[in-house]
Amino acid sequence: MTRFIVFASGKGGVGKTTLTTNLGAAIHKFGKDVIVVDGNMSTPNVSVLLGMPKLPVTLHDVLAGKAKAREAVYLHPSGLKIMPAGLGISQMKMSQKKQLAHVLNEFANQTEYMLIDCAAGLGQEAMQAMHAGDELILVTNPEIHAMTDALKAYEYAKEIGIRPIGVVVNKVRNKEWEMTKKNVEEFIELPVIGMIPEDDNVKRSIAYKKPLVYAYPKSPAARAIKRLAASIIGEDYRMLEPETFGETILRLIGF
Ligand SMILES: Nc1ncnc2c1ncn2[C@@H]1O[C@H](COP(=O)(O)OP(=O)(O)OP(=O)(O)O)[C@@H](O)[C@H]1O
Ligand SMILES: [Mg+2]
Repeated sequence: MTRFIVFASGKGGVGKTTLTTNLGAAIHKFGKDVIVVDGNMSTPNVSVLLGMPKLPVTLHDVLAGKAKAREAVYLHPSGLKIMPAGLGISQMKMSQKKQLAHVLNEFANQTEYMLIDCAAGLGQEAMQAMHAGDELILVTNPEIHAMTDALKAYEYAKEIGIRPIGVVVNKVRNKEWEMTKKNVEEFIELPVIGMIPEDDNVKRSIAYKKPLVYAYPKSPAARAIKRLAASIIGEDYRMLEPETFGETILRLIGF
């Protein structure tokens, strides 16, 4: 059965697109069939981040009824599949005849994972992407304003009945002013399933247009993302690569 997982945050710039594409790449590394969907229709980034900016048919064409859903799926050299949105302003103005949820439903039972990157905010666009998911991962940063926006996104998800998997706190620097894992869990009332460090390799991988987990597989952020991928799909991280000593300690103390 296909799992439709949507990544929402409320606040912009917290790292949804980076996380969605890299989790997709990491889940693919475990041998799974994954499609990353760019559900951010006004400011799409998935294809840019993966170095595939000029693609002839996009999700915009599919939503406008001008192309079939399958025609907008592309294979990245890493083996990950993506469904990009159109980058031009003309595509943004295209009329929309279909709902994203309806389009993505065509892939039910055809692929194992559909990861849907959501727009910032809680406007029509973000709401549409959230309706296309069955499960939700909230992405946030360890700051109170990111947290209040994430809470709002979660409240909307509850209203429409999506199952929350948990919260991923991204760009963690372990500074004394940051919210801790415990603070976040108390505030949002959901488990924190991943803490991804702020890591310059993320920006470096974007500049080289390659997923971080392939370009810098041993970097701190890549390792955290691969651990998260393993826990989401119920696989053992150690199947992919040996744990570091620090990771073994963290696992043994139950993190
Ligand atoms: N773990 C990280 N360490 C360092 N930089 C990061 C990390 N995660 C994301 N970034 C950087 O943060 C910026 C925003 O990331 P991204 O575009 O993924 O956020 P977003 O939530 O998708 O934004 P938007 O809401 O605009 O769609 C990018 O410059 C990215 O390189
Ligand atoms: Mg984004």
